[in-house]
Amino acid sequence: MTAVNRDPLWYKDVIIYEIPVKSFFDSNRDGIGDLPGLIGKLDYLVDLGVTALWLLPFTDSPLRDDGYDIRDYYNVYPHYGTLNDFQRFLDEAHLRGLRVITELVLNHTSNTHPWFVSARSSRSSPYRDYYVWSDTTEKYQGTRVIFSDSEKSNWTWEPKTRQYYWHRFFHHQPDLNFDNPKVQEELLNVVKFWFSLGVDGLRCDAVPYLFEREGTNCENLPETHAFMKRLRKEIDVQFPGRMLLAEANQWPQEVLEYFGNEDEFHMAYHFPLMPRLFIAIAQGNRKPIVDILDQTPQIPDSCQWAIFLRNHDELTLEMVTDQERDYLWSYYAKDSRMRLNIGIRRRLSPLMQNDRRKIDLMQSLLLTLPGTPILYYGDEIGMGDNIHLGDRNGVRTPMQWSSDKNGGFSRADPSSLYIPPIQNPVYGYQVVNVESQIRYPTSPLSVLRQMFQVRQSTRIFGRGTLTVIHSRNQKVFAYFREYGGEVALILNNLSDATESVYVDLSRFNGYVPVEMFSQTQFPLIRKARFHFTLSPYGFFWFHLRPPRSEKAGKKGKGNP
Ligand code: NOJ
Repeated sequence: MTAVNRDPLWYKDVIIYEIPVKSFFDSNRDGIGDLPGLIGKLDYLVDLGVTALWLLPFTDSPLRDDGYDIRDYYNVYPHYGTLNDFQRFLDEAHLRGLRVITELVLNHTSNTHPWFVSARSSRSSPYRDYYVWSDTTEKYQGTRVIFSDSEKSNWTWEPKTRQYYWHRFFHHQPDLNFDNPKVQEELLNVVKFWFSLGVDGLRCDAVPYLFEREGTNCENLPETHAFMKRLRKEIDVQFPGRMLLAEANQWPQEVLEYFGNEDEFHMAYHFPLMPRLFIAIAQGNRKPIVDILDQTPQIPDSCQWAIFLRNHDELTLEMVTDQERDYLWSYYAKDSRMRLNIGIRRRLSPLMQNDRRKIDLMQSLLLTLPGTPILYYGDEIGMGDNIHLGDRNGVRTPMQWSSDKNGGFSRADPSSLYIPPIQNPVYGYQVVNVESQIRYPTSPLSVLRQMFQVRQSTRIFGRGTLTVIHSRNQKVFAYFREYGGEVALILNNLSDATESVYVDLSRFNGYVPVEMFSQTQFPLIRKARFHFTLSPYGFFWFHLRPPRSEKAGKKGKGNP
């Protein structure tokens, strides 16, 4: 057993694995994944090489938004287990050196939460002011509707008390009123409760929307930053070493504000980067990635981006131009059933047309660009999706463990599973599953595992600077990562053809490029321009070994 890394900046060095408890493993044959099931799979996750787990919401809920509609902040949804099971899971994860990140849904509750049940029952309810009410729908007109496929307005009429209530997501998810100091206290208590149990980090859902102000778009308001700074202050005092991750689907300049002066969030997702990785590989050109990196500001030293390819939601296309969105839709979501709101509800492998070269290249980008990578469960084996299921359920199907009944996810009667596993001839559990992929070294699972090992052999990727190499060949995206005197050179061929590229390595005269997977040494860097050949969608990760350690004669396969 490994102890967890005690470094307060641990979140810079981890690889995060995102898990819906419901979808992972069903230990009690009720057709729904549960915490004891997840505990039984911890060794698998350690073996895979991830070092932190992000659990999607697991507290009590009517599950009309998969748990983001909270009915009880303090108890586990009964089908997933009990609070004791959660504590056991946490202890078992920590024993194995895994950090645990859970959800903090601040902005809203379910309409079945006792606060809302009371609030909607009478205007004089002590909880009335926990939510945002209005006699008309005229207020906050400048606010966009996020779930545009299912909601027409951010206001919904409450017939009993004859007022409208405010909601940024589904109508059954009323927004909490953060102008009410009691609401702020309640949420601070929720935070303390989960940190007291021992969770390492909280992923703060829907952060930009906490407050409403007339004449604004009701996003990223100063009041939201003030509240988050207050929360951070309390954590720094009471729970040092814990982490807050902002879910703020915004442009980098706006997200920068959420890091504050190292006094707000430790981490934030880099939403705009993600779709540009998909554009770049579709167009075989690095420009979209380089452009967004150019627009990404420096962030404070202790802060970190969280980067990802796919997650439990649709591949959101909010942070792209209209032209880019049209391009992504026409390229990746020709069938209208693949679209949701303004995103694409598909998994990584189908998006890559199951082309192994493209899948591995996307993972190479994820693991070598600045930030902490997040892997969505099932993407390590290349799971498919089911566009015939509603909402985002098509990317939330049962984990495929083996070719057994229900893909080894559950011993329940197949008709009682929360949703069916993928069963088609390309991605079905008979073909795509952990048991088979663990057995051969070139499987997606085995290769990713190896990539994780290499990534974790150095701190360069989690902590280093990035310098883009502006080589003439635009199809190759190459960069240096540097940290504490170490240098990595990464080359990614975004095109479907073999590419040749000259890279200016004059700064590293006398260094030896050592390929990081095989430890093969390349010829000494003597000329300013170094030539590489990359296979279609191929990539290289090199360590540039400085002259002195070369003389010290480190091991490695010789190569003249
Ligand atoms: C963002 C979550 O990722 C999504 O799944 C959820 O529906 C909304 N926030 C509302 O909580």
